[in-house]
Amino acid sequence: MNLQQVICTLAGKTKTDKNMLVKMNVVTIIGSGTMGNGISHVFAQNGFNVHMMDINQGALDKALATIGKNMDRLVAKGTLTEEAKLQALGRIKTFTDMVEAVKDADLVIEAASENIDLKLNIFRELDKHCPANCILATNTSSISLTRIGSVTKRPGKVIGMHFMNPVPIMKLVEIINGYATDAEVTQTIFNLSEQLGKVPCVVNDYPGFISNRILMPLINEAILALQEGVAGVSEIDTIMKLGMAHPMGPLQLADFIGLDTCYSIMHVLHMGFGNQKYAPATLLANMVQAGYMGVKSGEGFYKYTPGSKELVVSARFATKQWKQ
Ligand SMILES: NC(=O)c1ccc[n+]([C@@H]2O[C@H](COP(=O)([O-])OP(=O)(O)OC[C@H]3O[C@@H](n4cnc5c(N)ncnc54)[C@H](O)[C@@H]3O)[C@@H](O)[C@H]2O)c1
Repeated sequence: MNLQQVICTLAGKTKTDKNMLVKMNVVTIIGSGTMGNGISHVFAQNGFNVHMMDINQGALDKALATIGKNMDRLVAKGTLTEEAKLQALGRIKTFTDMVEAVKDADLVIEAASENIDLKLNIFRELDKHCPANCILATNTSSISLTRIGSVTKRPGKVIGMHFMNPVPIMKLVEIINGYATDAEVTQTIFNLSEQLGKVPCVVNDYPGFISNRILMPLINEAILALQEGVAGVSEIDTIMKLGMAHPMGPLQLADFIGLDTCYSIMHVLHMGFGNQKYAPATLLANMVQAGYMGVKSGEGFYKYTPGSKELVVSARFATKQWKQ
């Protein structure tokens, strides 16, 4: 963001309209895992001061290293200068104490694990400790914004800001209005997303919103087909890549998203719609229980070796007639 262009403050006194750029002094990101580090990267690169908070110091260290590596790639490609990279990294502060991280925040984006009780607790705490005008956003993939807003005293300022993985590359931000979200807050988050170089789309609060209501049943169906022995991992992914022009097969995508996250989203769809068609595949549940989460744990449908880009099917599924 070009700070010279800033013409609107978030004080809440100025009505936000379509053409107003949003100024925020501090944006706090709660959770520094797969999504939290990407969101922090994008805000820092666009001139915002970022407070990146996680309960796990190791996750913060890993996130800073990942952001540094991803920015190095942009420098190598010529899309970021070394100086801009150092400035962006200098804008990121890390915290393990939430109260410290949010006390002067204009916007908080929660990107902690996809667990409803965890998120409700985080929002109760955020409501207590954030400044009164602070917007509380969540990167949840599926959990009801209305439910999250209801545990705060500011449901009008609670909104979904659903970034896609990998955040620095993916253009979409799915903005989710809770039942009580103020139109002005939606406009602010819309403008802010555009300032980050993203393409925002606004949707309403139904289980899975749009993206995961459509994507997750596709992934779950691919897992069911594997579970039933209809085809192997490579065949399922190849058919969807070459036959449907998907850039990545559904099983590889599930590994990339994290199988625990996929399972949680299916659970939300299943409970939210009360329809058996959304029941998570037993194979997905078993893999999550056993700790096979995909890329982040080193193995899911594929086996991941640090430093190697080769796509290797997990030995568990390597036999042609694999069937659970
Ligand atoms: N992974 C994806 O592709 C993807 C895409 C879009 C949205 N999301 C959503 O983003 C959110 C985060 O997913 P992720 O894939 O980054 O998960 P992740 O498991 O990679 O990271 C979660 C992080 O949250 C931290 N955490 C847990 N409890 C916390 C707390 N109380 N306070 C602060 N930090 C806490 C953990 O230590 C961990 O570092 C989820 O809601 C998920 O549904 C994920």
